[in-house]
Amino acid sequence: MPSKAPPTILLFDSGLGGLTVFREVVKARPDARYIYVADDAAFPYGGIAEAALIERVLAVVGQAIAEHKPDLVVVACNTASTLALAQLRARFTVPFVGTVPAIKPACAASRSKRVAVLGTQATVAREYTKSLIREFAQGCEVALIGSARLATFAEAELHGEPAADAAIAGEIAPCFVDQGGKCTDTVVLACTHYPLLIERLRKLAPWPVDWIDPAPAIARRVAELAGPPASPHQSEPAQIVFTSGRAPSPALKAALAGYGFGEGSSRAN
Ligand code: DGL
Repeated sequence: MPSKAPPTILLFDSGLGGLTVFREVVKARPDARYIYVADDAAFPYGGIAEAALIERVLAVVGQAIAEHKPDLVVVACNTASTLALAQLRARFTVPFVGTVPAIKPACAASRSKRVAVLGTQATVAREYTKSLIREFAQGCEVALIGSARLATFAEAELHGEPAADAAIAGEIAPCFVDQGGKCTDTVVLACTHYPLLIERLRKLAPWPVDWIDPAPAIARRVAELAGPPASPHQSEPAQIVFTSGRAPSPALKAALAGYGFGEGSSRAN
């Protein structure tokens, strides 16, 4: 009997943050064919007005779907998912897996019942995020902390140009609240870029907390939809597309090779 062809999985982010989702999804379906679209021409998404961002995401994802005919699309971006997931599902027939702030598991796990959600300024302002808190806070005090610069620092780190400790410490400081005998003990990483900085976040935190990265849960959802791997081996090197058409720097090329990408293919959009 001929074996079923491995699925094509498309991952999409404003930039390189989606790599933190990609590395978990690959573990669940090592045999799939992967296309990663980084909309670096429009990075960062955190500062783009809602109507313009919906239009941009529909256009870029639409073009990628037409070109690569994926079996599944992972929107590896909270800023896009909390805004445009419903429109994407309405417009295209391919199944979508989104990335949204992991407020439910964070609040369930918090012992002090004080949780912070660290995301882009756009993600923490979204009605979608607020509704997750209303539904799943489970008696926790949840602080919404928007960072204007952390996603850019994460990109810089991958380009071999790490931000200064003081700059990162300043972005995460508002997450740490010690009030009324309750200290923040859990921080939701509500931007896929932030796990790229996890070692530095741990080092610079004023006290230890649990950092919640949704990527393993997203990979489990992909495995549910795409089924078990037909083979434990990668079928072909993953491909990355930069919408700016810019060639990756040598440092980034080396980082991408570590994630299992072949030579980058770029395109202007
Ligand atoms: N990686 C994106 C997210 O998960 C956002 C970064 C940005 O473009 O501002 O929200």
